Amino acid sequence: MKQAVAKAAMEHVPSGCIIGVGTGSTANYFIDELGKIRGKIEGAVASSEATATRLKQHGIEVFELNAVDGLEVYVEGADEITANMHMIKGGGGALTREKIVAAASKKFVCVADETKLVDILGKFPLPVEVIPMARSYVSRELVKLGGLPRLRSGFVTDNGNLILDVHGLTIMNPVELEGIINQITGVVTNGLFAKRPADLLLLGTSSGVRSITAS
Ligand code: A5P
Repeated sequence: MKQAVAKAAMEHVPSGCIIGVGTGSTANYFIDELGKIRGKIEGAVASSEATATRLKQHGIEVFELNAVDGLEVYVEGADEITANMHMIKGGGGALTREKIVAAASKKFVCVADETKLVDILGKFPLPVEVIPMARSYVSRELVKLGGLPRLRSGFVTDNGNLILDVHGLTIMNPVELEGIINQITGVVTNGLFAKRPADLLLLGTSSGVRSITAS
């Protein structure tokens, strides 16, 4: 299913452009597809070091985001997504760069298999990237919000920070919670992508790829 949505996403790649490319196993299938048509695009902005490495292995030029005016499209996976196109991301720990690339992109195409589509976000623990010295303080604040934060063991982000995975949340208002958590001092960003949701979901199912827009 992941491979099928990666192939379907190729229809949304404009010729001659620099595109945003996400992180994770579904995004990796997409990079492999991009490698087959690498002459069609000018290059890519990567949402993680791992993605940059894979793009380069396929001979695709990787640009710094600061070197481009903006991106036509960003193709990226998700850990959970609702029919409103709100997402939890950051299972791979790349949430901050993913959110920056999403913000700089005109169109966000989410590629996911059917297990990712949920009615309510929160069963997947919400990743929160924190400045290391703020870890304990931020954890206490997250407990006040009803979550159970756990430090992602042995993991350091591409930005040199830590990840708290917040369990036990039932997220009824993702836009509001995204803002509240981002206001905690020491939080770099959190894995709710609701203020800037996906524009299109390509969902891999046992009966083929479904194209879904916000309901
Ligand atoms: C990376 O930090 C995440 O946001 C990924 O997009 C997410 O974990 C999806 O990964 P898979 O495609 O491997 O399920």
